[in-house]
Order: sequence, then structure tokens, then C-alpha cells
Amino acid sequence: MDNVPLYGGADAMKDENLFHTVLCDLLGIKYPIIQGAMTRVGGPRLVAAVSNAGGLGVLPTFGVSPEKLRQSIAETRTLTDRPFAVNIVPMGRAFTESRAKIVIDEGVDIATTGRGDPTTPIVSWLKQHNIKVLPVVPTVRHAIRVVEEGADAVIASGCEAGGHVGTIASLPLIPLVIDAVKVPVVAAGGIGDSRGFVAALALGACGIQMGTRFYATHEADVGPSEKRSILEASEEDTVVEAMLTGKPVRVLLDREIEKLLQLRKQGAADKELAAFATEIRKLSQRDPEKQTVVAGQISGMIKTIESAEDIINQIIEGATAICNKLHLLAGAQ
Ligand SMILES: Cc1cc2nc3c(=O)[nH]c(=O)nc-3n(C[C@H](O)[C@H](O)[C@H](O)COP(=O)(O)O)c2cc1C
Repeated sequence: MDNVPLYGGADAMKDENLFHTVLCDLLGIKYPIIQGAMTRVGGPRLVAAVSNAGGLGVLPTFGVSPEKLRQSIAETRTLTDRPFAVNIVPMGRAFTESRAKIVIDEGVDIATTGRGDPTTPIVSWLKQHNIKVLPVVPTVRHAIRVVEEGADAVIASGCEAGGHVGTIASLPLIPLVIDAVKVPVVAAGGIGDSRGFVAALALGACGIQMGTRFYATHEADVGPSEKRSILEASEEDTVVEAMLTGKPVRVLLDREIEKLLQLRKQGAADKELAAFATEIRKLSQRDPEKQTVVAGQISGMIKTIESAEDIINQIIEGATAICNKLHLLAGAQ
């Protein structure tokens, strides 16, 4: 890691921004804060709000038709002239190629990639078109592989996160990935405020990616009941369930998910569990009040719906106060 400078020298002085890191230089952003792509939740309004506030907003492609993706990119450009990214989850060759082609055609110059089929060489496809690529990785092994493929940075995401998850928690995963690769590492999974931000930097990360915290924003594209369920959840109210999408995904525990867990406990066969999971998905589509909420353990800390800009400003202000306090402590010794 010695060859990866964490903080940008001249630029850090120029904008008097204590938190100007290599990630800011790589992406052309003010604060090293990425809004993780959120299927169904993070549309142009949220993405632009994050980018306008100095972070990096990321549009999802999973569950988004090609036409809708082109529209969302165009709409985001009407709302911000700052950098933003598009996320591609490699879910089969045809899907991945079609979404990558749109990213390339539309001149989007930053992409994140989610967990999906690890055999699709999505990073090298995008790199051939000079797109900056930041894959989300759940293990050291995965990080090494995407860096060999040409990733510009990696987002190490612990299993506390909302969405598809691995099994390693953020606290061990982030420094392990930092020690294993020679590109900047962004920390994700279980970060929701200035304390998590400073902790991530202390681990050696060059920035953070948050999903769940940005779910509970005015700009998130979902109704009030979903946002409320995040505010009401405690840290114990999420579970990881593989039946819903075919891969382990962290969601809020609600009545339907509880029934699914109960069925499993009673020894139901996989076929029966899969059929019930299909019912849950259909119910989500029919009734917004019964929507399965994909969210991380940090839900337990989120008690207010804010604007994306306020969240970013609070993190930066809080982090500055923490650093000043640590500095005072160091001075007192
Ligand atoms: C509602 C929701 C949807 C998500 N959808 C995606 C997605 O489409 N692609 C992806 O790579 N990650 C997705 N994620 C993961 C986030 O981008 C981010 O990495 C994660 O939320 C970080 O952990 P946190 O929730 O603890 O902040 C999703 C997360 C949430 C909460």
C-alpha cells in the first residue's frame, strides 16, 4: 500500500478539504463518499443530489430496461453537471453486455460493478473504453481477481451491508483487502455516519460507499412506508436470505420473510421455499405496503429522513469534529 497516497497533496490544500483523498482525484469529486447503487430506490433525483453535494451518485441497472436506463442517464444529466456513475451487476452475458454497451454509448465514464456472475469479464470490457471501474468485492480473493482484470479501485463490502452480501464483516474485510491490492480501497457495509466514515479512513480506506443511509432520504424513489420501516428497524431486524433472488441478500425482517424462515425451520423442501419466495416477490409488486425492504444492519442507527446533501454535510462536519478531538488527545500526551 505504500505506493497509494491516501490524501491528495496540492488539491487538499486548495479546497481546504481535510478529507480530500485519492478517490476524489480518481473520480473528480469533492468528498470521498459514494452512494451505492440501489435497485428500485436510487433514481436520477437521488443520484444527482449526492453528486451535487460533492459525493458520487450511482444509478442502478439491475431491474432497469435498456430504454429506462438511457432515460435515467439523460435525466441525471439534466439535474447535475457533476460526475456520476452507473452500476452493472453481471447477471448473465446478454444482460451484462447490453448494459455495458449503453454505459459506453452514453459516454458515462465511471462504473461500479456489483456481485453477480464472477466469470463475466465486465471490468476488462469497460476498461477497453477507458471507463473507470470500481467493483464491489466481498472477499480478498475477489478483490485480487478484479484488480488483475484492471479495476481502478475496489469497494470492499462487508456482510453488514444491505443488498447482496458475502460472509466477511467490514472490520476484518477492509484492512485485509487493503493489504492485498495496490489500488485504492473504498469501505462499504454498515457505515451510516461520521463515526463510520472516520473509522473507514482509519482502516486505510480512501472513502466510503453507503446504501441504506441514502434509502432514508427525501430523494429516494420509494414511498413513505418503506422509508419508515428503515427508521423503525433495530440492528437485529435484518436477515440474509438466498431464496428471494437466488443469492444471499440482506433484507428487513417483515411478516412475509418471517413466514419464509418459519417454513424452512419446519423442514420445507427448497421447491416449496422457492415458490413462497416467488409469492413474496409478487406481493411486493402488488402492494407497496408489503414491499420487501432490502437494507443493512445500519438501519438500526437511522432515525430520520434527511436530504442527501444534509447527510453528506453532517458526515463531513462530524468527521472534522472527531479528527479535532483525536488531535487534541494526541496533543495532550
Ligand atoms: C435497496 C438496496 C438496493 C441495492 N441494489 C444494489 C444494486 O443494484 N447493485 C449493487 O451493486 N449493489 C446494490 N446494493 C448495495 C449498495 O450499493 C451498497 O453497496 C450497500 O448498501 C452498502 O452497505 P450499507 O447498506 O450498509 O450502506 C443495494 C443496497 C440496497 C440497500
